[in-house]
Order: sequence, then structure tokens, then C-alpha cells
Amino acid sequence: MKAYIKGIGSCVPARKVSNDDLAKTVDTSDEWIYSHTGIKNRHIVEEGGAASDLAFGAALAALKDCGENAAAVDMILVATVTPDYLGFPSTACVVQDRLGARNAAAMDISAACSGFVYGLEVARVFIEGGVYKNILVIGAETLSRITNWKDRNTCVLFGDGAGAALVSAGDGTADSSGRGIIVSHLEADGSGGSALIRPDGGSRNPFAPDRAPGDTLFFRMDGGKVYRFAVDALGRVGEILLAKAALDISSIDFIIPHQANIRIIEACAKRLSLPLDKFYINIQEFANTSSASIPIALADMKQKGILKAGQLIMTVAFGAGLTCGGNIIRW
Ligand code: UT7
Repeated sequence: MKAYIKGIGSCVPARKVSNDDLAKTVDTSDEWIYSHTGIKNRHIVEEGGAASDLAFGAALAALKDCGENAAAVDMILVATVTPDYLGFPSTACVVQDRLGARNAAAMDISAACSGFVYGLEVARVFIEGGVYKNILVIGAETLSRITNWKDRNTCVLFGDGAGAALVSAGDGTADSSGRGIIVSHLEADGSGGSALIRPDGGSRNPFAPDRAPGDTLFFRMDGGKVYRFAVDALGRVGEILLAKAALDISSIDFIIPHQANIRIIEACAKRLSLPLDKFYINIQEFANTSSASIPIALADMKQKGILKAGQLIMTVAFGAGLTCGGNIIRW
């Protein structure tokens, strides 16, 4: 029995912010952003919007996609670096309440942009271990809430959004054709933690009533360091996944990479000797939505009729931590 993705959905804020919009308030340009990253737009939540709002919308869309209801969900995993609340309650618990998923356990996963591929593997193990039958894996981010909008090195790169997958136990027919999560690979290199970090608000540097919050409230990034890690990680994870599954790259129909920078995706294509059109890319519209970028891409592909039953797809992601990982899935 294999765990497979039964339903997929996404939820992205309606408010679109273009590169030209940003250039009105930060020293940047559409030309710089597009040529260095491939980004044209990002979507940003309205004032008051939180990760659970998007996660809830994506979860509803994933359940609708496969005709399941919330009562059938045994567990909710929300991968996020922008939880509604710092520490507790988890965003997964907020979503569980809003869905009315009374039978579901709920917890958050903190693996940054690799969170969704981590979540798929956690779900696979719970399901194939016989513990649960239906697990909602959600990547949900409101990065706009922790972005320093004066820092052009970061603020042009990110966007808000959520994507969700209902991962279910094969019933003997759904997985008879090999449909399911075939293999995953997860890694971490904590020595690179300072390359992408939100220093304040945790137990190391707690908020204090007598200290005015400064720019350390926001996340900061050593872009070059993350770039070098990413270029190595994506290709290497791809090669490891293929070796684990004993598959040749030629059998993969599509690669769904974390959407962080088109140049990182191009480097991955080169390393895997694949043309760029084997990669699904929507960074131009949504920018980097961290843990949400891969499920948003999957939902996009499904909606456009690009994803078809029986196809072999590979996800590859990297992010803060530093973390990286991926999955090979028979759709
Ligand atoms: O999900 C994981 C999250 N993080 C990432 O994936 C980020 C990975 N890193 C990257 O994608 C790239 O390193 C960046 C897009 C962040 C930067 O691209 P780059 O080609 O490596 O640019 P750079 O850092 O070498 O900067 C080149 C110049 C600098 O000016 P000087 O020092 O050469 O005069 C920057 O100050 O570009 C400047 N610059 C900008 N100019 C206009 C940096 N950001 C901007 C901007 N607009 N938004």
C-alpha cells in the first residue's frame, strides 16, 4: 500500500504587487528584479491576513479536488515559517478548528522552504506505517509580515500563498498502477543557519518590553551563500532521489522545483542535463512563497491539465536551516 496525493489545491491572495509597484518605494527596478530572479509579481495578503487564512483556503481546495470532507482527515501538518502565533498554538491547530476536522491531530513543521517536501515524507511514513489514512499537508506563508520592506536584498524576492495536498492511503486500486510517493530524500546543514535567519522573537532573543523592536524583527539573508547552497543542493537531491528510486532522469515527466530564483532552476537543469521545459516554473507570478511554492505549482499544473495520471514527477527544494530535500511521485 502506497501513500498518494489524492487532492491538491492552493490559495493565493488577490492583491498583486508588481516589480514596478515596489520600485516606487524601494531603490530597485523591474529590469534588475526580473533579470536577477525571473520574478515579475508577487501576491500579498491584506492587512490582518495570517498564514492560517491561506492554509484554510488551500485545504478546502484540496479536499474539494478529491471530494473528501474534513471529518475524514486524521492529521493536519502545516509547514510554515510565518505561523499565526509565535510558538503556540500551532497554525495547524487553527486550521483544524476552522475546518471542523475534529478527528485530526495537528502540528506544524519548521523546515522553511523545504517544509512541504518534508511534510510529504512525514505523511507517507504515518500512512504506510498504518497509523493514518488521510493527512493534509499544507505549505502556508505570509512572508510579507516578517519582511523588511526597506531592504531591497530581500523584499523583492518573496510573496504570500498556500498550497495543500491530501495524502491518502492507497485502496488497492488507486495505487495498483504504482501511483504514490515513491521515494523522498531529506537533508539539513544547521551550520548554515545564519545565512537566512529571523533573529528576534524566539528564546535566544525574546521580545522585551524595555527594548524597541528594530530591524532584527524581520528576517535577513546572505543571498550569495544561500544561492551557492541552493545550486548544489537541488541538483544533488535530484541525483540522490533518482539513485534511491533506481530511475533514470529520462523517465521523469516534470520537475517541480522550489520557486526561489530562475537562475537556480537553470543551474539545476544543467546539472541534471535536462531542458528547462521539463521544469514547472511560475516564479514570475508568485515570487518565492517558501513552503507554499511547490504545492502552489502542483495545483497550478493540475488546474491547467498539465499533470496527468501515471506521470512521474520530482520535487526539489532548499531553504533556511539550511535544509533541502525532494520526492519522486507517481501522479
Ligand atoms: O527560499 C530560499 C530563499 N533565498 C534564496 O533563494 C536566495 C538565493 N540568492 C539569490 O537568489 C541571489 O543571490 C539574489 C537574487 C538574492 C541576489 O542576486 P545576485 O545576482 O547574486 O546579486 P548580488 O547579491 O551579487 O548583488 C548585485 C548588486 C549589488 O550591488 P553592488 O554591491 O554590486 O553595487 C546589490 O546591492 O545588486 C544590488 N541589488 C539590487 N539592485 C537593485 C541587490 N538587490 C537589489 C534590488 N534592486 N532589489
